[in-house]
Amino acid sequence: QKLDIELAAIEKGGYDHFMLKEIFEQPQTIFDSLRGRLDAKKGTLTMGGIREYAEMLSKANRIIIVACGTSWHAGLIAEYVIEELCRIPVEVEYASEFRYRNPVVGPGDVIIAVSQSGETADTLVAIESAKEKGAIILGICNVVGSSIARLSHAGAYTHAGPEIGVASTKAFTAQLAVLCLVALKIASEKGSVSAQRFQHLLDELEQTSDKVATALKLDDQVKAIADKYKDARDFLYLGRGYNFPVALEGALKLKEISYIHAEGYPAAEMKHGPIALVDENLPVVIVATKDSYYEKVVSNIQEIKARKGKVIAIVTEGDQTIPPMADDVIFVPSADEIVAPIISVIPLQLLAYHIGVLKGFDVDKPRNLAKSVTVE
Ligand code: AGP
Repeated sequence: QKLDIELAAIEKGGYDHFMLKEIFEQPQTIFDSLRGRLDAKKGTLTMGGIREYAEMLSKANRIIIVACGTSWHAGLIAEYVIEELCRIPVEVEYASEFRYRNPVVGPGDVIIAVSQSGETADTLVAIESAKEKGAIILGICNVVGSSIARLSHAGAYTHAGPEIGVASTKAFTAQLAVLCLVALKIASEKGSVSAQRFQHLLDELEQTSDKVATALKLDDQVKAIADKYKDARDFLYLGRGYNFPVALEGALKLKEISYIHAEGYPAAEMKHGPIALVDENLPVVIVATKDSYYEKVVSNIQEIKARKGKVIAIVTEGDQTIPPMADDVIFVPSADEIVAPIISVIPLQLLAYHIGVLKGFDVDKPRNLAKSVTVE
């Protein structure tokens, strides 16, 4: 028994939980997911796993991203990235919905299946039927040789290593990095981005690993915020554009490991009803990094404050507009909006982790949850 405890401690690399270890592994796992593919200095992008399909992908009529949970959130961000860079229509579907609604899918469609485990039943069955209907399947998986990877025509592995914590963290940021690479590969094949923007985004991606390492230095500050709000009954997470799915992911992390009800919402959608929820007891986490939506997010913060909501703002280092408005502020390194979610999700992972631990729950094995949902 004592040996088991010692073995577990070694496996956790000295961290209290696998989840915290995996959060802190992210500078390395992002680097590993880009390694051998991205060479910013040479300005090259090599993706062996999709090379023979690159031209076909650039001519796709439509891309449908199919996933569940956190992987579905990665798909939402990929939708914005692919449409922005490749000008190909993208739809993101919950696999569990897609598989049962007899979707219109056929040759010329590309399905991107995003799955950490590569074994999620809903995602697996969804792509089996799409494949039978003639679609090309691209798998973005973390487990080599998993069922979804084997079923796919092509794809790319996220090299995040085994993810033990039930709540996905390092797999999510690796998915974002690899999906950005796929979008850039398609865009370069299609000629839909300028050489300058292509090089800029290669540079930005290469810097994300170090920026995540910087964001991880916020751990103590985030822990203090966790202690302040750990007894809240509900949380709201808000974001716009690329940061809207980050808000959804932050809310899911909190729900999964602290059992507090949390909802992610597009910040601008608040006025169509949900703002009725806002009062002095409601912490509102708002992802408000500097991007093309920033000015609008500032006014959303003012709307929340006018109704006495408690605002926890994730802002870009150097921001002087939002901090005076917010109750708590977390500064993250600046980044191009396309890669910024990889960095802005870090404090949200840490916030959920610390609240879960402070509430005394088993953050590695939350109640009712399985690491991979291989049954429907
Ligand atoms: C995320 O923290 C959850 N563990 C869950 O939503 C998960 O993302 C979902 O079940 C999909 O799993 P997959 O990526 O292995 O397909």
